Amino acid sequence: MGDRDLNKVIVSSPGRINIIGEHTDYNLGYVLPTSIDKRIRFTLKKNNTDTQCEIRSRGYEKALVVDLKHISPSNTQWENYILGVLYEIYKRNKELKGFQCTIESDLPVGSGVSSSAALECGLAFGLNELFDLGLSKLDIVTLSRDAEHNYVGTKCGIMDQFASVMGKKDHLILLDCKSMDYTYVPFFIAPCKLVLLNSNVTHSLADSEYNTRRNECEEGVSILQKKYPFIASLREVNLDMIESCKMAMSLKVLNRCTYVVQENERVLDAVKALEKGDLKTLGSLMYQTHEGLRNLYEVSCPELDFLVDFSKNVDGVLGSRLMGGGFGGCTLNLVHEDMADAFILSVSEAYEKEFHIKLTSFEGLPDMGTTLL
Ligand code: GLA
Repeated sequence: MGDRDLNKVIVSSPGRINIIGEHTDYNLGYVLPTSIDKRIRFTLKKNNTDTQCEIRSRGYEKALVVDLKHISPSNTQWENYILGVLYEIYKRNKELKGFQCTIESDLPVGSGVSSSAALECGLAFGLNELFDLGLSKLDIVTLSRDAEHNYVGTKCGIMDQFASVMGKKDHLILLDCKSMDYTYVPFFIAPCKLVLLNSNVTHSLADSEYNTRRNECEEGVSILQKKYPFIASLREVNLDMIESCKMAMSLKVLNRCTYVVQENERVLDAVKALEKGDLKTLGSLMYQTHEGLRNLYEVSCPELDFLVDFSKNVDGVLGSRLMGGGFGGCTLNLVHEDMADAFILSVSEAYEKEFHIKLTSFEGLPDMGTTLL
């Protein structure tokens, strides 16, 4: 450490996958994500100015130039993740000063592996190191989530940021989004592996419908509270309680609440299955999650449904589901490693024939969270 250049840091910040537990985080339930080996790299240097910052991203010619004293939202989405983080940090800590940053990434954008959380958390982590801001890892996670709420406008939960920062090689994180307690679950699934299939579609509904789902769940909670005043979220609810209030709910709200309660159960069942090495049960839970997201939560789309339905007729695929917020991005597939290549080949051909879109695939390997290089 003695030789470290105090004016420069390099940070590597990962994307995330989620084995199960979708749309449960903002309902204060359970999730089972991990960070992966697809990452964003930040090179950050002090520039000895008080408030002038310049951020360059490979692939974008124009640098983002920011004065910390005058931060305001941009019309370019990726810039808002950066601006939001700078705003949230500067609001808390004026030790942040001017810097230069270069960003390089091998994380596919808009594919449901949360390049946005990697961007937010990696920048916050790097600035914390560079300026010795005294932020804890949990501070980095929460301020990055706040950046997304306040600057991007997506009222996301805590999962993506938490997984990106806290991930551990060869492990999943079982996170209780109510207490924020977490445990690392060893993840050894040989002879299977996780294959991500990127549909390469992002439907524009994603952001607005995400916030709508959140509101629908809150509506469900307020109906349930009339009979069960002690509940604060869907986390404290079971299916009998929903049944007893269903006459007061629209079908939509009923379905949303039912999905969330069932999905929380599935996360805990998935952990038990993993502990027993029962990959068949894990795969079946993944299929159930997809059905719930398709029929009850209504965040799927024809492309994702096609990929999941196709997988059901392929030897060696144990489970498949859409991953992340929905309306595009990736499916996560639990596949026997000997059959993985044949599966990718056949599903890619069928998908291109149906939608005239090329599928891309990669393996999801649990890797360490945000780190200094
Ligand atoms: C997005 C959000 C997360 C989570 C997932 C769905 O990735 O950022 O907080 O809600 O969708 O599980």
